[in-house]
Amino acid sequence: MNIFEQLVIPPSSEHIGLLTVMQIISLLTFLPFAGITLGASVFSVYFKKRGKSTKNPLYIMMAKDVMDKLTAGKAAGFALGVLPMITIVLVYAQLLYGAKVISVSLLTLALILYIVSYVFIYNYKSAFQLEAVIGALKSGTLPGEVREYEDKVVYMGSRYGNWGISILLTAMFLFISGMTIASKPGVWGSVDNILKLLVSAPIWVNFLYFLSSSAMVTGGAILYFFFVWQGGVRPGNLDYAAAIKKYAVITAFAGTLIQPIFIFAGTLFLKPYNASSGVYAFAGFSLLALLLIGAMLYQIFKSSETNLSGAVFFLIFMLFTFTIVKDQLTFKNAMKEQYLVLGSKAEELAKEKQGMIVQVSGADGEKIYNEKCVACHKFDVKLVGPPYQETVPKYSGDLKKLAAFIYNPQKINPDYPAMPNQGLKQKEADAVAKYIMDKVGKK
Ligand code: HEC
Repeated sequence: MNIFEQLVIPPSSEHIGLLTVMQIISLLTFLPFAGITLGASVFSVYFKKRGKSTKNPLYIMMAKDVMDKLTAGKAAGFALGVLPMITIVLVYAQLLYGAKVISVSLLTLALILYIVSYVFIYNYKSAFQLEAVIGALKSGTLPGEVREYEDKVVYMGSRYGNWGISILLTAMFLFISGMTIASKPGVWGSVDNILKLLVSAPIWVNFLYFLSSSAMVTGGAILYFFFVWQGGVRPGNLDYAAAIKKYAVITAFAGTLIQPIFIFAGTLFLKPYNASSGVYAFAGFSLLALLLIGAMLYQIFKSSETNLSGAVFFLIFMLFTFTIVKDQLTFKNAMKEQYLVLGSKAEELAKEKQGMIVQVSGADGEKIYNEKCVACHKFDVKLVGPPYQETVPKYSGDLKKLAAFIYNPQKINPDYPAMPNQGLKQKEADAVAKYIMDKVGKK
């Protein structure tokens, strides 16, 4: 089941380079943004719950501000999440053209679920504003209508967050499964349904890697958008700033600490066809970046300074870059055979477009040759007509031209009599032309 098979055409080898660049740029937009959306939603839902149960308005404020600052507006959310994801799916559909692998189906499913989660999460976010409005109204007496409305909003605020997170997690699991399988041609045939994804160790390693990156980039984004971006927020409220800083650093630090485990595990799962010195180099860069991030987070935690936040956020993006380039190299190394196939398919298609190749289905060239041509032609000996080996090469692969001669022979060589018209249909002329051209080509 590959719904794109009809839509996409096999890319030529020059085209593949361009697609790879597009892929890296789209992943570099999508993965951090999806990571931040996931992290911010979990952070927000958790602190909202905690704020409600402890009746601490600071937590609720945190829950709301994190959503506001980290998930961007609806339009930006679409541009940073949905659009690059569509690009990624289309690029994979092209690169895996004709391959028997479920990756593209998984990525498509992931895309649909991602869009659903996006709707839930933005509804969860709007519920905060509505709750605030109702909160303000509550100081007076509430009309019955508004009270009904309040129940709905509270429901949205609690349920939509949870639903959004679960669906987003599922979408990301499928997305990462699709990418992981794509770079392992060895398992293309065997991993053919969704249940098998759940027992695949390399998929889990990559998924947990994504979750730890998500924690890291969320923590980094909170530090950045609360303390650096446009001079920081709510400067008067020191308690609030301290609490935000503490939880942001803890979140980022947790991700940073466990990430090396998955980098090592990931390299263990590399197949020989995946590995190259570039892959190991980028794994090394990742570890180095992690070390720096960890050290800076520790500095921020220890001192009351937050001015390293910008650098941390930047380094986290570098880390994403290293990881994505490493994964794309892993993929590219594994694709050598697939790209050769694609190259020849693309060439065939280009020829077909220029009219050098014609569709010959329906007529049997060899049969026609045996019935209508053997009397006067052999491939290597002169009979009434010249041997094909002498005449066919001059058409240098142009089937259309050869078929045109057979369909309607013209006088050519003064040493021979004219060839009588054999009364073939165009389709038959095409078929026999292809047959003799293929045969001459093989000799
Ligand atoms: C009655 C004999 C005869 C039959 C049957 C015949 N040919 Fe020919 N064919 C000739 C002769 C003679 C020539 C040389 C014509 C010329 O050079 O003007 C020729 C030339 C050709 C050439 C060379 C054209 C070129 O550009 O030099 C091709 C290709 C060819 N025939 C294909 C076929 C095919 C395919 C069939 C069967 C469908 C076929 N012929 C049946 C006699 C025949």
